[in-house]
Amino acid sequence: MTLLTVENLTVAFPGRRGTVNAIEDVTLSVSPGEILGMVGESGAGKSMTGAAIIGLIEPPGGITQGEIRLEGDRIDNLRPEAMRRIRGRKIGAIFQDPLTSLNPVLTVGEQLIETIQTHLKLSKADARERAIDWLRRVGIPAPEARIDTYPHQYSGGMRQRVVIALALCAEPRLVIADEPTTALDVSVQAQIIALLRRLARETGVAVILVTHDMGVIAETADRVAVMYAGRIVEVGSVAEVLTAPKHPYTSGLMASIPRIGPRPDVLAQIEGAMPRPNARPEGCAFAPRCPHKMDICLQQRPKLEGSEEKSVACHLIEEVSV
Ligand SMILES: Nc1ncnc2c1ncn2[C@@H]1O[C@H](COP(=O)(O)OP(=O)(O)OP(=O)(O)O)[C@@H](O)[C@H]1O
Ligand SMILES: [Mg+2]
Repeated sequence: MTLLTVENLTVAFPGRRGTVNAIEDVTLSVSPGEILGMVGESGAGKSMTGAAIIGLIEPPGGITQGEIRLEGDRIDNLRPEAMRRIRGRKIGAIFQDPLTSLNPVLTVGEQLIETIQTHLKLSKADARERAIDWLRRVGIPAPEARIDTYPHQYSGGMRQRVVIALALCAEPRLVIADEPTTALDVSVQAQIIALLRRLARETGVAVILVTHDMGVIAETADRVAVMYAGRIVEVGSVAEVLTAPKHPYTSGLMASIPRIGPRPDVLAQIEGAMPRPNARPEGCAFAPRCPHKMDICLQQRPKLEGSEEKSVACHLIEEVSV
């Protein structure tokens, strides 16, 4: 059975000149144990999709259309208290900056033990043993001693390891990792990704991995969703999407890969910029930058169509068939 399904999800924010859709009509699914990569330019809607799934859209923003199901049950319309229980127990989160996930005034152990005891029926002593195990598993040296120290006593990379332990310690089914290595030194980024991948395989947790790094996607993800201007433009197996991209935007992303260093907010191979949410054109949002645009692209928004293996939202594909 599918673990997570997101269907036709739209998240809107009221603005001075009417509401704007941060994401529009987003449809995706994640199977148990699968790693789904999410890529796309800054502002494409990757974090907003993740925030909607874990129920952390900041008011006055909210879901205006669509639904989210976890193990078959709707989770998009739960009360805050019910959603809080799901967060942690069923869905864990890892964000860019480990400090946002850690409480500076509590020891690492207190935080792990609290999370474990909130979600699993374990005594304090057993929860502490479990916490030490998790610290060991994520590669913290001398965990019996480190468990009683505070987050500021850890390096950035070690802190993110603690956050990973915190996200996984209640044995969730899904983890949302939103650029988990962006704030870290380049030298430790690969280690953290490798750790995440290993733990995903070991525990069977599914992961939605938001990253700007196509290399990470290629090495880590099973499937990948490409977002542009609030929508998914292409989704499918990594093999299909990376080696045979169908959407001109994906092709452009792939062409701009061999870049090390600062994130490619401006795509080297595609001129122009992604439209803001309040200035998306009527047809395909990518049309103004697309080297293959046709008349229909300026008039009609292409639907995401295809199979489990690969879906694409592009009029070109309808022309030639997938
Ligand atoms: N609090 C907010 N109020 C209104 N609009 C917002 C808010 N937060 C984000 N948005 C808009 O939602 C859209 C999607 O933003 P999101 O943060 O999901 O992008 P992203 O793909 O994660 O980008 P990045 O790579 O920079 O993290 C953007 O157009 C952004 O301006
Ligand atoms: Mg983001």
